[in-house]
Amino acid sequence: MDTVIITGANGNLGMAVTQLFLDKGYRVLAVVAKNAKENFLKHDHLDVFVVDLADETAAAGFVRSVIDKYQSIHAALLLVGGFIGGNIASTSGEDISNQISLNFNTAYFVARPLLQQMKAQGAGRIVFIGSRPGLVASYGKDLVAYSLSKSLLFRLAEFINADARGRNVTATVIVPSTIDTPVNRKSMPDADPLNWVKPEDLAEIMEFVVSAKGAPLRETVLKVYNNS
Ligand SMILES: NC(=O)c1ccc[n+]([C@@H]2O[C@H](COP(=O)([O-])OP(=O)(O)OC[C@H]3O[C@@H](n4cnc5c(N)ncnc54)[C@H](OP(=O)(O)O)[C@@H]3O)[C@@H](O)[C@H]2O)c1
Repeated sequence: MDTVIITGANGNLGMAVTQLFLDKGYRVLAVVAKNAKENFLKHDHLDVFVVDLADETAAAGFVRSVIDKYQSIHAALLLVGGFIGGNIASTSGEDISNQISLNFNTAYFVARPLLQQMKAQGAGRIVFIGSRPGLVASYGKDLVAYSLSKSLLFRLAEFINADARGRNVTATVIVPSTIDTPVNRKSMPDADPLNWVKPEDLAEIMEFVVSAKGAPLRETVLKVYNNS
């Protein structure tokens, strides 16, 4: 049974991803937000952790503890992230630091110790969630802090892929457009959610990436835009 870390597991995307990986027979190590543990999914193959992943020491301690317990970690799906709007005029340095902490540090602090472990194992898959404004600057002019912070994940994936080349350890970036979540439906009542991306479809794509079928993929950036 392959062991997979999923961060942001109680988020809108994370719930669908966690459910699908459990359904497909993985052992899931889910990192959830404070207060979410009690009401989270229950499953024989699910372990739930509350960790502030913006805290490097806490994140490293979490990774160390699951390596000690499970020996081998097949994949990590690093889903924690969040969004603020703002163009250059309205975006402060503090806004940028906060978004980097949320969108980049929470992934880096898990990926950093895991990369060493995966190289030692001789296998591993790390999946980041980018965003279209983080990839295409013209989409990001009114989302400056968010776009800058997400753009770092694309560079990080390239560094990991260069560092681990030839070692069967890969980093992949999944790039959703708008995800069909209750939050987005509420904030964009005039938009057609059928054009957005379903969390369940993103979950299937992530499972393909980390499965045996996805094993030959390298340096992968997957744009999952549907019709938006
Ligand atoms: N929604 C979209 O349309 C969209 C589009 C493109 C990309 N994305 C990306 O897709 C990912 C998932 O999005 P989503 O809509 O599912 O987000 P979400 O519902 O807000 O889920 C994010 C989860 O991360 C948790 N989290 C935040 N800070 C944390 C920390 N320091 N340590 C541990 N956990 C923390 C949150 O907990 P709390 O609830 O306690 O904060 C929440 O459970 C994000 O990376 C997002 O940027 C989303």
